[in-house]
Amino acid sequence: MMHQSKRRSMLAIAGFMFAAATAAQAQVAAPRLANVTILATGGTIAGTGATSTTTVGYTAATVGVQNLIKAVPELAKVANVTGEQVFQIASENMSNEHWLALAKRVNALLAQQNVDGIVITHGTDTLEETAYFLNLVVKSRKPVVLVGAMRPSTALSADGPINLFNSVLLAASPDAVGKGVLVAMNDQIQTAREVTKTNTSTLDSFRSPELGMIGYIQGGKPFFYRQSTRKHTVDSEFDVSALQSLPQVDIVYGYANVSPVALDAVVAAGAKGIIHAGVGNGSLAAKVLPSLKSARQKGVLVVRASRVGQGILARNGEANDDELDFVVADTLNAQKARILLMLALTKTSNSKDIQRMFYTY
Ligand code: DGL
Repeated sequence: MMHQSKRRSMLAIAGFMFAAATAAQAQVAAPRLANVTILATGGTIAGTGATSTTTVGYTAATVGVQNLIKAVPELAKVANVTGEQVFQIASENMSNEHWLALAKRVNALLAQQNVDGIVITHGTDTLEETAYFLNLVVKSRKPVVLVGAMRPSTALSADGPINLFNSVLLAASPDAVGKGVLVAMNDQIQTAREVTKTNTSTLDSFRSPELGMIGYIQGGKPFFYRQSTRKHTVDSEFDVSALQSLPQVDIVYGYANVSPVALDAVVAAGAKGIIHAGVGNGSLAAKVLPSLKSARQKGVLVVRASRVGQGILARNGEANDDELDFVVADTLNAQKARILLMLALTKTSNSKDIQRMFYTY
């Protein structure tokens, strides 16, 4: 009969070998969680209201990034998350200076081996603008995801926590690499170029009219169905690393009975570029055309956009752009055309080169 102590030794060795094999298998099976940095800038996602039913009339930009992270402990299941409070503002106050500082911080972080992706929490009012600006100046293929909320953190069924969870898992996903800057709201994945805020308060406010979103986030996974055909991030010619400011570009609106007063004022104030958000296909009222011509003669770059918000702005359609030496915005809305023109003017004042940029990005 096998001596008892020898039997016990054999069993102990067998148990150890099983434990070692299991640990080794676990080692192989569980890939490292991605390292995702959350850069917090403020907005409603960080907002608080007086009661749980306060969904308007709340205060934006009051909750700090660590509390945003603490409110979603599930984040730890999808990524190793760290947080930085880069600003704490309502996004209607976002400025060129904020954008330059944010872009430089994003590029510095993404250059680090130990950062796999970035989430930027942001007010929804100018979220689409910050997203498009970063889409043109981020120098990495790693995921950058912007996220906001339509309800403050204190509200019943606040959308911030689930939007933040979805954004972090998207930023941690290899499938999001190389897709450009993305926006993740309401379980949908949108590109920075096409997304726009379409409703003052509903949860489905962020849409990509006509050209459409590129995927969904469902059950803790991103599902992509297409991607942008326009250049972005590492394929962009724009670089803000040495910039301390951006050229002044203003938007003037077209409407019935418009006068050139606003246009003349921004030109007099030193605008280097004008986005004319015209009616229809960018039509120019006879009353403002002389002021636009005069602005162009002074060297101000003029871009014809539309207030309509969808469709191609046809060159030489509602105006003779070749003769006037104007640029057309293609399908960019006025606020995004302004961003591209600001960056274009950091590279050139040649209208033909700038028109190329509007057909490239
Ligand atoms: N003040 C607005 C902003 O910070 C609140 C809207 C929001 O964040 O949803 O953009």
